Amino acid sequence: MRFPVPLLVIYILRSFLLHLKSPAKINLFLKILHKRRDGYHELASLFQAVSLFDEIIFKSHDRDEFTCSHNEIPLNEENLIIKALELFRKKTKISFPLKIHLEKNIPHQAGLGGGSSNAATTLWALNALANFQLTEEELINLGSEIGSDVPFFLSHGSAFCTGRGEKIKEVNPIKSEEFYLIKPDIKLSTKEVYSYLSIDNFSQRNPEMDLKDILEGKSIYYNDLEDAAFSYEPKLREFKQYLIKIGFKTVLLSGSGSAFFCIGNGDLNQLDKDIWKSKVNFIYRNKNKWFN
Ligand code: C5P
Repeated sequence: MRFPVPLLVIYILRSFLLHLKSPAKINLFLKILHKRRDGYHELASLFQAVSLFDEIIFKSHDRDEFTCSHNEIPLNEENLIIKALELFRKKTKISFPLKIHLEKNIPHQAGLGGGSSNAATTLWALNALANFQLTEEELINLGSEIGSDVPFFLSHGSAFCTGRGEKIKEVNPIKSEEFYLIKPDIKLSTKEVYSYLSIDNFSQRNPEMDLKDILEGKSIYYNDLEDAAFSYEPKLREFKQYLIKIGFKTVLLSGSGSAFFCIGNGDLNQLDKDIWKSKVNFIYRNKNKWFN
């Protein structure tokens, strides 16, 4: 049931505290179809939420305040959490002061969707605090104004994404394998990686067929952005080759990188101690509940 807005205001003026997890994603496959007139690329990709999380705490407060555990993360409108907050307020005309704290665990510029996930988590939290004034579809539309990957995080965990990534089609849960995310100390800008794309390197795959095969249990992994990222930063190719050499069977760049997801029995002792890594599996959420 939806409360009328005056009742809602009384409801939201009560003190609240919402502590939510904000998951990372990988792209099991990512096919680039073509470059569009608006500069974006039309793609078809199977996105999957994984068990690596930032944490975001939303708390009632006497004014707006935003803090983060990492000092290199911007605290202004550049941060997608602030963008989401402003957009939600503009769209709903519902505004209540709150303190937001972001505990960052998902590496930045890694192709793991951390910023997009934070934006989606914020939209979901604000909507929950506002007694679900916006429908799921309205929330997804708001998300697509923030970034191409934001709508995916409003899905239930697995989605076939098209357009510039913002058109999501939920798919049945995919059998989870345990695997590692491993990221060298290289940061990549998504925009730059896309600018290195060359049509000659696009795979000749049929993404609809690949989706069907994966849902039937086959293992299919590819990423048309990988070669572009390797041209932009050749050290990444060497890093991938090293991960294969130490025993991983499948190694693929996630999105525009620079994190790789690695399946198989790689010998992690052969990695430098300061290389970031995390063991993860696929995750899902239930309808009307957030990821946990
Ligand atoms: O949508 P988002 O802000 O995440 O995209 C960042 C940049 O990545 C865009 O400015 C664009 O250069 C590139 N991009 C693209 N095609 C897509 C998604 C992103 O070219 N489908």
